[in-house]
Amino acid sequence: MINIAIDGPAGAGKSTLSRLLAKDLGYIYVDTGALYRAVGLKFSMKGFDTELKGDIAEVLGETAVDIRFIDGAQRVFLDGKDVSDDIRTPTASMMASAVSAKPEVRAFLLDMQRGLAQRNNVVMDGRDIGTVVLPNAKVKIFLTADVEVRAERRYKELCEKGQQVDFADVLEEMKVRDYNDSHRPIAPLKQADDAVLADTTSLTFDESLELLKKIVEEGV
Ligand code: DC
Repeated sequence: MINIAIDGPAGAGKSTLSRLLAKDLGYIYVDTGALYRAVGLKFSMKGFDTELKGDIAEVLGETAVDIRFIDGAQRVFLDGKDVSDDIRTPTASMMASAVSAKPEVRAFLLDMQRGLAQRNNVVMDGRDIGTVVLPNAKVKIFLTADVEVRAERRYKELCEKGQQVDFADVLEEMKVRDYNDSHRPIAPLKQADDAVLADTTSLTFDESLELLKKIVEEGV
């Protein structure tokens, strides 16, 4: 199976670009952030905040996260319910970032991610795909852009979805998530030694997609 790993910070355009890249290649697209978001949602529903004070293992013991592909699109299920839309709020983002720092949570989701990549040609995106989940991926890309540019893109996306947000809050939240994701002791966000850096700060969306396609063509 051919595995393509795409890592990078929040708002770099990973999911949209990875989805289109996968479509172009005829591979399955796996958005691993959605798994952490589903776990984060479960902890919120259980009354936890981002400090996650309590018995993590006990909550995980009664949690079932599952990915299904419906008409080629990934849907995420939490305890049998499709939560694909519920996980896309700023609160869910912060909870996802918090739970993702917990070793128990990372271990809980690891086999599912590896299993998908063993059974399918995949474009898998996340934070630690090239470094931890799929260290033998055929192509590894580290996709990034300056934080202001990423916040601007995320702000527009949320506004288009009709969410009431303030740009300063989006920027601040992105900085906090960048910090948390890259400073946690396990599986921090970092470029794998053998990953190709793709910086999209000054690229349009189409140019970014072309860049990724070129990197993949050269690497596969
Ligand atoms: O990609 P995203 O914004 O949907 O990810 C949500 C959070 O999940 C993010 O703050 C970091 C975490 N995450 C992770 O730790 N490892 C992954 N492979 C994917 C996401």
